[in-house]
Amino acid sequence: MGKEVKSVEYGLEKIFEGAQDFLPLLGTDYVEFYVGNAKQAAHFYKTAFGFQSHAYSGLETGVKDKVSYVLKQDKIRLVLTTALKSDSPIGDHVKKHGDGVKVIALWVEDARSAFEETVKRGAKPYMEPTVEKDENGETVRAGIYTYGETIHMFVERKNYQGVFLPGFVKWESDYNPAPVGLKFIDHMVGNVGWGEMNTWVKWYEDVMGFVNFLSFDDKQIHTEYSALMSKVMSNGNGRIKFPINEPAKGKKKSQIEEYLDFYETPGVQHIAIATDDIIKTVAELKKRGIEFLPPPPQAYYDEIPARLGKHRDMMKEDIKKLQELCILVDADEEGYLLQIFTKPVEDRPTLFFEIIQRMGAKGFGAGNFKALFESIEREQAKRGTL
Ligand code: FE2
Repeated sequence: MGKEVKSVEYGLEKIFEGAQDFLPLLGTDYVEFYVGNAKQAAHFYKTAFGFQSHAYSGLETGVKDKVSYVLKQDKIRLVLTTALKSDSPIGDHVKKHGDGVKVIALWVEDARSAFEETVKRGAKPYMEPTVEKDENGETVRAGIYTYGETIHMFVERKNYQGVFLPGFVKWESDYNPAPVGLKFIDHMVGNVGWGEMNTWVKWYEDVMGFVNFLSFDDKQIHTEYSALMSKVMSNGNGRIKFPINEPAKGKKKSQIEEYLDFYETPGVQHIAIATDDIIKTVAELKKRGIEFLPPPPQAYYDEIPARLGKHRDMMKEDIKKLQELCILVDADEEGYLLQIFTKPVEDRPTLFFEIIQRMGAKGFGAGNFKALFESIEREQAKRGTL
């Protein structure tokens, strides 16, 4: 990890040496899912995950071909979009992939420059810089393709005061389940095909100016049956982190292969969301019907004090309570982290969520990979896809 340097021009902290400054990112702007039925998906994310009704566009706002619901919880914005007619790229996307993440939108100062700089470095354009306006001001958005059919949309909103984007109205709803303590997106993981991980690592380095700050090979990430490889990419200020996974050869089918079989192209595998009280958040999510991966065996919890090492005295959470909720614990040099993974949130075994609480640790739970993947394999075995 590099020394801290301030970027004067953008007032952004630079924490990763080697990251390039041509694409300053302020944070994740929104994540857009293409889904079969946005109205019902919105109900699910409100009821089960505690997202709040935020903005809407559709027939009532003069949009004839699609409907979008925007949900918010603290800094996280999810957009759920459905086609209104059969002749639609949104419908085609859902037909091929099932419900899934189409757009990872990144908040920028200057969308035109973000588009130019990335396209100049080899990005495939998705949407030319486009000005959108309404009575609340204007935004500029521009998009490029990343892995599979997934898009990075650059969003410039410094001249916009409306609720979300031009064309959206505030979504007033009488149904408002309480939030569950989800704060912001910690990282979003992409699954890519056999032998493609390094291609995409290089793409994020060359096109987006990211750095590869952690790597795990199949010797580190494997169980008796399956394996995968993973490299974590970050932008310069560390606000955007994209681990990239590819399958590796094992005795049986890896979870990444299962994902690729069902999503039918590379795509977003999981969205990790930060909380500052994982026990409270997970207890609430369970009460609301979110299904998590089954717990690792007793031995896993017996080994927690040893795994924590020097951070042992720092941990305030009761291990019994963590075990009850199936929460996993890992530690690195700088601290520890608590994490848990949902089962896939749609019928295809594709996208799932991670809930994470960082207590100083900057890693991704490498010490939990084996226990986690064994849990996933038990689920794969039930689906007949191991
Ligand atoms: Fe993760």
